[in-house]
Amino acid sequence: MISALKGNIIAAPKLGELDITEKGYLVFNDGGILGVFQNLPEKYAGAEVTDFGDKLILQSFCDMHLHAPQFAMLGMGMDLPLLDWLNAYTFRTEAQFADLDYAREVYMQLAQQLVKNGTTRICMFSSVHTDATLLLMEILEQSGICGFVGKVNMDRNCPDYLAETLEQSKRETLRWLDGCARFNHIKPILTPRFTPTCSDELMAWLGQLAAERGLYVQSHMSENLAEIDWVCQLHPDCKQYWETYQKYGLFGNNTVMAHCVFSDERERAAMREHGVLVAHCADSNVNLSSGIAPVKQMLNENVRVVLGSDIAGGAQLPMLNVITMTIRASKMRRIQTGWQDNFLTVAEAYYLATTAAAQVFGAGEGFAVGDPLHAVVIDDASFAKTRPLSVRERFERGIYLADHSNICAVYSEGIRIK
Ligand code: GUN
Ligand code: FE
Repeated sequence: MISALKGNIIAAPKLGELDITEKGYLVFNDGGILGVFQNLPEKYAGAEVTDFGDKLILQSFCDMHLHAPQFAMLGMGMDLPLLDWLNAYTFRTEAQFADLDYAREVYMQLAQQLVKNGTTRICMFSSVHTDATLLLMEILEQSGICGFVGKVNMDRNCPDYLAETLEQSKRETLRWLDGCARFNHIKPILTPRFTPTCSDELMAWLGQLAAERGLYVQSHMSENLAEIDWVCQLHPDCKQYWETYQKYGLFGNNTVMAHCVFSDERERAAMREHGVLVAHCADSNVNLSSGIAPVKQMLNENVRVVLGSDIAGGAQLPMLNVITMTIRASKMRRIQTGWQDNFLTVAEAYYLATTAAAQVFGAGEGFAVGDPLHAVVIDDASFAKTRPLSVRERFERGIYLADHSNICAVYSEGIRIK
């Protein structure tokens, strides 16, 4: 059956570009998007039209770095730097996910909040627990969310109550991968937590597994200065953080690296050359006083960048808030560099939260023909009355002001999930 959404359609096909179709039609069927049209084409005259009137129809959001178990500790320990925060809060919280009943409760809430806020694609860390990870994947899939979830691997430098042995980590990873075969929209991603918590043997084994099975990889990189020092001590043969991943085959075009706050020109060049994707997490980087990543430079140098909430280093799950925080952080960096660095515009940050990440899942640019429909509908009627605004102005204000109560519909893979 052919369907159409009618409203003001705003897509970001390229960095900084907006495609705006006022009072237009977004036509789709089970096979995907058929097109965006000003007027409903004759051949689609029989389409079932959902008329959203004067509302705004946007691409739905992709959260490309977050920790599902940390949803339970949102907003906690925010006055600590990274390594202290991990020890004081994070590991203790994650240990609770050995309990499947507890995991179910938290993960159901997380999935509901993602849908409510228009996040339909994710790239997520779970905990070390295989069964809780499979449960998380099941809950996300049933909620209509797509993307990657990874069982965390860590076999050193973490509390005994959470650490795996090398053998256990290997065995559980294989058991987890076997269990993933039943999911359609949620895929596994290998997840060495970060260099300090993974032995050389574990990293080598994961790199080999990624190559053998063509799996995606996610980890953390160059987030915090104390962390970087530690990595250099652990791997004296490596000049920079990225080389600790690269030497084990964990640094390629199927790799998502969170943060990269301190990635200098050399590290950025390595990311570009290897096709590594940066998951920029502005809220987290400010909360943990890590720093502000050079996102504009990365984009200028053709490094691939997407956005993440990094729950719970970040305390904001809604990607609308992540987008505005990203813009603010880029402006703080601009101020701090004496206006050397440019800032991200609303259109640019919207692109990073949508098309840039959707492409990881095989999507095209904006609402591309053939892509499964991923969209949110924003009702901005309750915002203060002012002079008549253009749709572009309403889009910008919507990004800054809208919350879940303004998101009146969410579509994922062509299905309405809110
Ligand atoms: N580095 C290693 N683990 C973590 C984590 O859970 N959160 C963040 N922000 N950084 C990390
Ligand atoms: Fe993280």
